Amino acid sequence: MLNWLFGKGDSKKKELDLLHIGVDIHSHLIPGIDDGVQSVEESLTMIKKMIELGINQIYTTPHVIWDCYRNTPDTILSGLEMIRNAVVEAQLPVSINAAAEYFIDEHFIQMMQTGERLLTLPGNRLLVELPYSTPLMNTSETLFMIVEKGYQPVLAHPERYAYFHNDLSVYRKLVDGGCELQLNVLSLSGHYGPGVTRTAEWLLENHLITFLGTDAHKMAHLDSIQKSNRHGWLLKYPFQNEKLAFIRHK
Ligand SMILES: [Fe+2]
Repeated sequence: MLNWLFGKGDSKKKELDLLHIGVDIHSHLIPGIDDGVQSVEESLTMIKKMIELGINQIYTTPHVIWDCYRNTPDTILSGLEMIRNAVVEAQLPVSINAAAEYFIDEHFIQMMQTGERLLTLPGNRLLVELPYSTPLMNTSETLFMIVEKGYQPVLAHPERYAYFHNDLSVYRKLVDGGCELQLNVLSLSGHYGPGVTRTAEWLLENHLITFLGTDAHKMAHLDSIQKSNRHGWLLKYPFQNEKLAFIRHK
C-alpha cells in the first residue's frame, strides 16, 4: 500500500497491520530530550516504520522525570516543531502531536498542586508512569487526585509494574476509580519477560485495557513489534485509540 514511500524494490511482506489502531499515544520521538531518539534522522526513520505498521496519527510523549529529564512544555513543543517540519519536508502521510509521559514523583505532585501547565493527550488525558521497582506509598490516591484536578489519567504500561502482579485486583480498583490503562504492544511478545506477558493477557481477558501504545524509544522496538504479528490480541481486542483521532488537541 505504501510501497511508493519505502522504495519500489521493497517487496517484503508487511507482517503486522495496526491500521485499526491508527493513533499511537505513546512514543519517544523528539531527539535528545529523553532516552528515546537522538537525532531527527532517527526520528524520521522510526516515523516511516510506524506509517508502514498502519499508524497515521502520533502523539509522542517524552519523559518528564525530574531526576533525569527535566522537560517542560517549552522543551517538548520546540522539539515537536522541529520534527513536524521534518515530517512535512519528507512528505510523510502522518500527523504528529506531542503530550508527555509524566513520572509520578514529588515534582509531578507539586505541578498538580500548583496547577502548572501540563501537556495532555486528547480529552485532557494525562499519561503517567509509576516506578518499576518499588511501589508508591499511595498509588491509588495519587491517580484519584489527578481525576480530582480535572484530568483523565492514563496509566502507561500497567503490566510492567511487577509489584502489582501478585495482586491483580489493584488494576480493577484503578479502572473503577476512573483510570484508563495503556498496554505496550511489546508486552504481548515477551519483550519484557513472561510475567509481564501473562499480566498483559490477564488485563486484556478482563477488558481492563483502553489503549495500545508502541512506547517506541528506538528502531529495534518497532522491528520487534513488526515481528509480533502472531499475537491475536492485537487484532481482536477493541482498543479505543481511534476515538482519540481528530479530537481537537488542547
Ligand atoms: Fe514511555
